Amino acid sequence: MEIRPYRENDEAAIAGLWREVFPDAPPWNVPEDDIRRKLEVQRDLFVVACEGGEIVGTAMGGYDGHRGWVHLVAVSPRHRRLGIGAALMRRIEEGLAALGCPKLNLQVRSTNGDVVAFYERLGYAVEDRVSMGKRLGTDGG
Ligand SMILES: CC(C)(COP(=O)(O)OP(=O)(O)OC[C@H]1O[C@@H](n2cnc3c(N)ncnc32)[C@H](O)[C@@H]1OP(=O)(O)O)[C@@H](O)C(=O)NCCC(=O)NCCS
Repeated sequence: MEIRPYRENDEAAIAGLWREVFPDAPPWNVPEDDIRRKLEVQRDLFVVACEGGEIVGTAMGGYDGHRGWVHLVAVSPRHRRLGIGAALMRRIEEGLAALGCPKLNLQVRSTNGDVVAFYERLGYAVEDRVSMGKRLGTDGG
């Protein structure tokens, strides 16, 4: 298993993986658009896991100068519980630390509570915060 940055011809495989792993994603999360936007900002923090030439996992990190964030952590259902998710998170943590980022935040949908155990296993803690957001413009995200 190899973790590496995104390459140009990965788009279709990643879009297929996300549509399988996130079947309930909101309509504005169009994989091809999400990929295109990420390639314009800190693209080295967009990493994939490859197994035998197949893309089996993804993670998309970013640093805003104060906190790091990670999104779209996904592992193919046929490759779970093999340490791939943990390896993707380690790669994002290393990439953020190399930029001087002191803390990584992430959000878990309230309907996806099971995944909290995965992040706790990696040292993340549930924090007493209210998550807020606002959509800007109409171009997805
Ligand atoms: C969450 C996800 C990325 C985990 O990937 P994975 O490759 O199966 O995880 P790993 O094998 O690296 O697991 C790391 C540790 O977390 C634990 N873990 C993983 N998934 C777990 C789960 N659903 N419940 C409890 N523990 C879990 C593993 O047992 C392992 O512990 P260990 O070190 O003691 O063996 C994967 O289940 C997934 O893609 N889920 C759907 C997408 C999703 O919800 N992404 C997160 C959005 S916030």
